[in-house]
Amino acid sequence: MTAHPKIAIIYASGMGRTQLMAEAIAEGARTVNGIDILLKDVSLAVPEDIKDASAILLGGSTYNHKLIGSMRSFLDRIKDIDLKGKVGVAFGSYGWSGEGVPAIMDWMKSKGMNPVEPSLSVHQLPNEKVIQDFFMLGQVVAEGTKG
Ligand SMILES: Cc1cc2nc3c(=O)[nH]c(=O)nc-3n(C[C@H](O)[C@H](O)[C@H](O)COP(=O)(O)O)c2cc1C
Repeated sequence: MTAHPKIAIIYASGMGRTQLMAEAIAEGARTVNGIDILLKDVSLAVPEDIKDASAILLGGSTYNHKLIGSMRSFLDRIKDIDLKGKVGVAFGSYGWSGEGVPAIMDWMKSKGMNPVEPSLSVHQLPNEKVIQDFFMLGQVVAEGTKG
């Protein structure tokens, strides 16, 4: 049993750009007391990480016109978990076509989750302003999760 509501932030990032966003979200969320924050690279994530989370934030970039493969595999591993009504955030970096974040968004909707819209696709390397926006997003999600 967790004492506090939990936010799970799981990211897949080839060159560390989507990871920067995930870390900024986590930093913002950590400014809010009374919330457990889980931040993990998808290669270390297990389905249990999201099972008891109130909000699930999934980051993934775009490679070869698709969501990065490691996040596609993770979505497949967690597809049977009941996530109906949970708050979701889809985020990630892209270069030109940007299919990754919409793919996470569609998956969240197909699971009956409530993803924050619009989703958060960032072109290439996130700048300071973008990092600040993600920090604030983390704060807002954490405050919202607290109720
Ligand atoms: C081999 C390769 C293939 C890529 N394919 C795409 C693509 O099809 N569409 C796109 O929008 N970006 C593509 N990109 C760009 C990446 O999505 C972009 O560099 C992004 O910032 C990477 O974020 P990450 O460090 O979080 O993985 C590709 C990059 C590489 C290196």
